[in-house]
This record gives sequence, structure tokens and C-alpha cells, in this order.
Amino acid sequence: MNNFVFYSPTEFVFGKDTEGQVGELSQKYGARKVMIVYGGGSAQRSGLLDRVKASLDKAGLSWCELGGVQPNPTDGKVYQGIELAKKENIDLLLAVGGGSVIDTAKAIAAGVPYSGDFWDFFEGKAKVEAALKVAVVLTIPAAGSEGSGNAVITKEATLQKLGIKVPGLLRPVFSIMNPELTYTLPPFQTACGAADMMAHIMERYFSNTPDVELTDRISEGVLKAIIEEAPKAMKNPQDYGARANLMWAGMVAHNDTCGVGREEDWSSHALEHEVSAVYGVAHGAGLSVIFPAWLTWMTTHNLPKLVQFAVRVWDVPAEGNPEAVALEGIRRLRRFFSSLELPITFRELGIPEPDIDLLVNSLHRNKGELLGNYVKLTRQDTAEIYRLAL
Ligand code: NZQ
Ligand code: ZN
Repeated sequence: MNNFVFYSPTEFVFGKDTEGQVGELSQKYGARKVMIVYGGGSAQRSGLLDRVKASLDKAGLSWCELGGVQPNPTDGKVYQGIELAKKENIDLLLAVGGGSVIDTAKAIAAGVPYSGDFWDFFEGKAKVEAALKVAVVLTIPAAGSEGSGNAVITKEATLQKLGIKVPGLLRPVFSIMNPELTYTLPPFQTACGAADMMAHIMERYFSNTPDVELTDRISEGVLKAIIEEAPKAMKNPQDYGARANLMWAGMVAHNDTCGVGREEDWSSHALEHEVSAVYGVAHGAGLSVIFPAWLTWMTTHNLPKLVQFAVRVWDVPAEGNPEAVALEGIRRLRRFFSSLELPITFRELGIPEPDIDLLVNSLHRNKGELLGNYVKLTRQDTAEIYRLAL
């Protein structure tokens, strides 16, 4: 196990009706003027936004709002938010939504105290050294941004989808997690969320670092819980127990509990971010196509952890040819994604003929010549993985 620092200072307030505490919590973290950031309308339709505003009013806090954040959020909304936050003298960004809304709020939070262009952070030209506080009312368990210091934004002009990781400054100060708020999720979004959280665990699990039995077992346990709970939430959207387990799983999957002490991979995410940047697909649906293809490629390049994954997570009998055991694990993962009605090929994703040259060129321009850690991938390798997903 490698040395590590685990610092996860977010206050998680979990359970029924907890959004009623948003005013009180904002006050506790020193807010005077709050900017509420939200998406395309689900939080208005459900009445959540009104409840959030009422709670802020009750706590005597003033607020302004920035709506209309789109899935796979873009830089335009961030520039708009930075301008508004400066004008209104905001000191807390309150994201009411999912990963797209939270990441937009984080980018605004980093951009406000910075004199240059916020995109510098995403291109690695500058480091985030100050940020406004960010807080969350989560409405979809998926990206795990409620407990992470990461943000992912797409630059519209160049279709570059890039991320930053600033745990010391961009982890939310508090995150309100009421599973009931996820009852209104369309089944496709519930399924995409499950795929994304599973991917966040697998990116950490497929590691060559030895002696990480504890993080392996935690990871396998969380994966098994998602595999059990996601179908229940799909079948009965108002199953509180299933929704609650999924919501917490999404947080645990990405706040580094499943990653500490080992080298992580993250090439499937990099491969997917190109797909969602260019073709605008949902991130979780892109991952349900890419991850099994990445695993299939790995069966002939670095097998051992895949065998463990098949046996411990998918209950494949350990006997016989290790490659066959690994392939059976991948088959069961694909079958699980299909059972949630997620795509497992580019064709099913609605992209029968993806432009693989474009994806590979953009991927390596954005992320470097070698990708990931479980096996370092060259251009030829990433092109093969995209082809395995056709
Ligand atoms: O915009 P609204 O109307 O709110 O609708 C959203 C959106 O269409 C809808 N939705 C959310 N909560 C709902 C709801 N509909 C009904 N009822 C509710 N309770 O769901 C749709 C998807 O929302 P979005 O925020 O885009 O989903 P998600 O949380 O999956 O976020 C995806 C984004 O996060 C990035 C992804 O790349 C993508 O851009 N990621 C961020 C990460 C991070 N910050 O750590 C890590 C991830 O790996 C990921 O890359
Ligand atoms: Zn993800």
C-alpha cells in the first residue's frame, strides 16, 4: 500500500427532508449572499428550488440564481456565473442538481477570485489558489461531485472536456443528500448514475499496487451493493431503501475511500470524455460502452486483477483458464448494464460509425501520449479499445 493523505472535510447531511436545513447550513458556513446554481428545469418542476429559496429566506440570507446548466456543462455558463457572482458579491455557490450543476458551481467558485481566464486551470496553465465556498443539494447520484474536489467542463469552441482536481479548495463545505429527491429521475438517468459510480470504483480498483486488500474489499462491497440496489430503484423509483443506498454509494465511490493507497487508472474516463464531448451523450452511458471494451483489451495485456474482479464481484467460479474467467466477468458486467437498458456498444449508444481518428487525436492531444496506469495506453491501444466498443 502506498503512502496517502485522505482529507474529506465535507459535512454530509443525509436523509428525508434535509433540504429544509439549507439556510441554516449556509449560515453556519459564513454565507451572506448565495448564488443558487441549477439545471434545465427538474429542480423547478419538483418544487425543490422553491423549498431551497424558502429555507434561505428563513435564515435571512439573500440570494440570486443562475439556471440552465446543461448536461456535459460548458464554459459559457461558467463565464456567465463568474460575472454574476462578482456583480452580486456572492460568497457561497449553492449547486442544486447533479454533476453538471455542481461542476459549473465549482468552476465559478475558482474563477471569481482569479484575475485571468478560468480555463487556464483546466489547461494546466494556472493553479487554483483561492475559491469561493461551494455547497450542494444533490438530486442525482452519479458523478460523486458532492464529495469530490473535481470539476469537469467542456470548452464549447474546441470540444475539449477537461477536469481539475483541487480537493483542498473545491470539496463542497456541505452536501445535502435526500434520497427522496431522486424519485423523479428518469430510469435512464438512474441507470447512467449506477454505471458512473461503478466506473469510479473500477478506475481505482484496476491497479498494480500490491497489498491493498482493504481498499479492494471496500470497492468490491460497494460494487456489489450497487449491482443489487440499482435494479430495485429502476423497478420501483420510490423505493427509499434502494435510492438511499445508491445515493451514498455514489459518494463513497468517488471521495477516494475506494482509492487510497494505490495508483489509480482513469483511462476509461479519459476515453469516455472524448465521446461525450464530441457526441453529447450522457457520461454514464458512454462509460457502459467504453469500460467493458477497456476490460476486454486488458484480458490480453494485464490479466490478474480482472480474474479477481470476475470471481469476487461477479461470482464467476475461479476454476479453469484465467482468461476465460475474466471474460465471463466482463460478460456479466455487460449483461448487467444491458439489464439496466444501458448501451454496451457505440451502435446502441446511437453512434454506429464513430470517428475514431478524431477521438484518438483529441484524446492524446488533451491527455498526453500515454494514458492510464494499469497498462499505459498508446494511440494504437486506444484506437483498438474504441474499435472493441463498436
Ligand atoms: O438539468 P435538469 O433539468 O436538472 O435535468 C438533469 C439532467 O438532464 C436530470 N436530473 C438531475 N436530477 C434530477 C433530474 N431529473 C429528474 N429528477 C431529478 N432529481 O439528469 C440529467 C443529468 O444531470 P447531470 O448533472 O448531467 O448528471 P450527472 O450527475 O451524471 O453529471 C454528469 C457530469 O459530471 C461529470 C460528467 O463528465 C458530466 O459532465 N463528471 C464529474 C465528476 C466530478 N466532478 O467528480 C466525475 C465524473 O466522472 C464525471 O466525469
Ligand atoms: Zn464518471
